[in-house]
Amino acid sequence: MVIQIQNPAQLAAPSIRLPAIGSIPRQSILELSACISYLRKIYNPHVRGSSRIREPVLDESSVKLTSNISLSDDVEAADELRGDAYERAYSLRWLSALVAYLSCLENVPESTLDDATSLIALCAGPASAGILTRNFSFPATHLDLPPTIDVRLTDIPLDNHDFHSVGAQTWGGACVLAEAIAEDPQSFGFVQSRRALRVLELGAGTGLVGIATGKVVQALGMLDARIVATDFYESVLHNLVANVRSNFPQNNDTGVVFDCHRLDWQAFPREHAPAPPLDEPFDVILGADIVYEAAHATWIKGCLERLLSRKSSKLISTSSHIALSPTFHLVIPLRPTFDSESSTIETVFPTASEASSVPQLVIEGKDIIVCDAGSGVKGEVVRYAYYRIGWNFVQDL
Ligand SMILES: C[S@@+](CC[C@H](N)C(=O)[O-])C[C@H]1O[C@@H](n2cnc3c(N)ncnc32)[C@H](O)[C@@H]1O
Repeated sequence: MVIQIQNPAQLAAPSIRLPAIGSIPRQSILELSACISYLRKIYNPHVRGSSRIREPVLDESSVKLTSNISLSDDVEAADELRGDAYERAYSLRWLSALVAYLSCLENVPESTLDDATSLIALCAGPASAGILTRNFSFPATHLDLPPTIDVRLTDIPLDNHDFHSVGAQTWGGACVLAEAIAEDPQSFGFVQSRRALRVLELGAGTGLVGIATGKVVQALGMLDARIVATDFYESVLHNLVANVRSNFPQNNDTGVVFDCHRLDWQAFPREHAPAPPLDEPFDVILGADIVYEAAHATWIKGCLERLLSRKSSKLISTSSHIALSPTFHLVIPLRPTFDSESSTIETVFPTASEASSVPQLVIEGKDIIVCDAGSGVKGEVVRYAYYRIGWNFVQDL
């Protein structure tokens, strides 16, 4: 039997889609590899819409903008299958038989055997409860960084009846922003000689952006850096704390102080005396996929007015690309179905050229980043807008 995975948007149960265990020896290695990829879609899926397309898209007519990156049918089906004890037990039996068979063969690619073995560990472990652990690896080119910035994260199951639980999972925008930080830390103001830098992440969810930033700042040896990852939803915060702890097991010895705090964008602007560390402004504020309701941009502006420093740092450097003015870096997916929500950013924040003579938060730059939607449909892409927002007037320190 040949397993056909022509439409990965329709995930069927492994017990239906995989060839019978007894017929494993009759499959080609290519077919067995396709089965492993199929199981990976269920037990260790990539974050969809996070593979950046670097070459310009020449034929725009071949591009299909997808409307929904992660809450699509196959993602929901994968979530459901992951929590199905029968399917997990079946997949475990199937994978164990596969590994036993492959181990007896010669010339089996090592990666095929490794993939099958690591899936066994995932199916036998926390995947059973719908919990997903992923390893992210972002290439870094800066000489003082290791070749990759590696982050290990746990997503907890989304509660489909509670829209507030969206932060339980990692979204494509976080991958895009973390990748940009690892690729060019200087353009975010992460410069080795900078001291006592304060970084805040809003709506951190599983914490990918803040944790990747922590690893960059740590590898650069930036002294006295403080990173504060925030969210407002209890179970999301709980998972965020666990992810930060597992990535920074010896928080105190690294030179980087990493905290997690509750911060509700709607309530914060009206708080009289925020508790430390939210009582002092930040040099860099980060946000990925945090504008998806009409009010979000206005609430976030209220937070930035209190939390984004109005003072630029006085760092002497020969590079002209270093952003030392306090900046809010925001990446949002341009979902056609959320058009009015994402356009509120440009309504709420004027561009630098439209700004008046009073101090104001303005859009200093905007880029469009295009990623493969990861849906398996040719030409389907997700576009992200990357905004840089700062004060039109900053004081020199
Ligand atoms: C789509 S998720 C993005 C999470 C993460 N930044 C990522 O890209 O993976 C939106 C995040 O914003 C948080 N959020 C939503 N409303 C919020 C509010 N009023 N205050 C603070 N955080 C909020 C959610 O809990 C969630 O973690």
